[in-house]
Amino acid sequence: MKNLPCIGLAILLLTFVALKIRKDLLPSWLAATKHLVKHAGCNDLKRMAPYPAQPIKGRERYRVMMDIKKLDVENWLTLDKNYMDEHLVRSQLLAHEKHKVLQCLPESYDACLEALEEVVEFLTQRFANMFEMKKYGEKTMVYNRMTGETFAFGGARSEQMDPLEIAVRLTMEDLSILMKNADGEYYLAASASLFPVGWTVAERIGWTISQLHNPVPLWHQQVANSVSKFLCRLTPHSPMERSNYFVEVKRPDEDLFEILYRPTTLSEDNPDPSPQDIVIRRERQTFRRLPRTGTILFGVKTFLTTLEELPMQELENLAREVNSWPEHVGEYKGREIWGAKVLEFCEKKKQQQEMESEKMEV
Ligand code: HEM
Repeated sequence: MKNLPCIGLAILLLTFVALKIRKDLLPSWLAATKHLVKHAGCNDLKRMAPYPAQPIKGRERYRVMMDIKKLDVENWLTLDKNYMDEHLVRSQLLAHEKHKVLQCLPESYDACLEALEEVVEFLTQRFANMFEMKKYGEKTMVYNRMTGETFAFGGARSEQMDPLEIAVRLTMEDLSILMKNADGEYYLAASASLFPVGWTVAERIGWTISQLHNPVPLWHQQVANSVSKFLCRLTPHSPMERSNYFVEVKRPDEDLFEILYRPTTLSEDNPDPSPQDIVIRRERQTFRRLPRTGTILFGVKTFLTTLEELPMQELENLAREVNSWPEHVGEYKGREIWGAKVLEFCEKKKQQQEMESEKMEV
C-alpha cells in the first residue's frame, strides 16, 4: 500500500514521456489528424459536397470582427465536386496571368517549401486515393490521380516549379505566407491568390497586414490591434479559422473563370441584376504557424452560392446585415448595385412562403 503513490507517480511520468516522444516523432501538428478518413475515391469526388460554409449570422449592428475559432484540423484543406472545374480555372490563370496571381519574395523560399510539404502530407493522408507521394532520396514526387499531373520538389532547386505554385495546383485553397518584418509586423511574403476580391498579388506583394486592409472601413479603429496580437500569438498547435462573405454581381453570360477571378471589382457592369446574377461569395480562411520556419500559412477557400440557393433564414439574416451597414461600409461593399434587389427578393420569398403555409393550413 505504501508504494501506491510511487506507482501513480511512475504511471504519470511514463504517460508524459510517451506523449512527448509521440509529439517529437511526428512531423507536425498533423499528428492530430493521423486518423483522417482515407477512403474517398476519385469517383466519389463528383458526389462530394463542399465543406459547409459558415452561415450568415444576421447581426443587428455592424462591427469589423475577427470572429476566429479553432481550426477543424481534419478539414484544413478540402476537396469537393467543383475540384475539376476550379482546377481548370486555376491552370488557366497560372498559364496566362501568373505574375498577377503568384508572387514569392526571395526570403520566403524555405517557408513556401515547408508549406508545400505540409500540403502534400495532408492531402496524401486525408485523400489517399486521390493523391500519392513517393520519395527518391531528397526528391519527393506527388501524383494527382484526378488530373493525372505529377510534380517533383526537394533536392536541386533551379529546374523546379515554385513550391507555392505546386501547392495551389493541388489544392482548392489559395495559399499565402506571412512573415514578420523588422518592425515586428506581418507582411505578405508570398502569395498564390487565384480567386482574389478586388486586388492582385502583383500589386500588393510585400504589403503589411495593415496596408492590405487600408481600404476596409473601420479596420484600424476596430480590429487592427487584435489581428496583430492574434497573428503574433498563433502557435503550431493552435491553428485557427474564420469566415467572410461578399456579395458579387455577375453578368448573365459570365463563366466560372470570370466569376472566380475578380481582380478589380465584385460588381460587374450589370445595373439590374436578377437573383441568379447575385452571388454570395464566401471565404473560409485558415491560419497555421509552420513549425520549422515559424512563418504563418494563410489559406482561403472560396465558395459560391446564388441568392436563390440561400435558405430562407440566411436570406433574412443577409437582409438584416445589409440594412445594418453604415453608409460608407455599404459603399465599400457595393450595396448601391445589389442592395435593393436582395431586400426585394427576400421580401418576395417571405411572402411566398407565408402564402404557402396559409394554403397548407386551410
Ligand atoms: C484575422 C485576420 C483577418 C481579418 C479579421 C480580416 C478581415 C477582413 C475584412 C473584414 C475585410 C473586408 C471584407 C468585407 O467587408 O467585405 C478584409 C479584406 C481583405 N483582406 Fe483580410 N482579414 C484578415 C486576414 C487577412 C490576411 C492574412 C490577408 C492576407 C492576404 C488579408 C487580405 C485581405 C485583402 C487583400 C482584403 C481586400 C481589401 C480591399 O478591399 O482592398 N486578410 N479582411
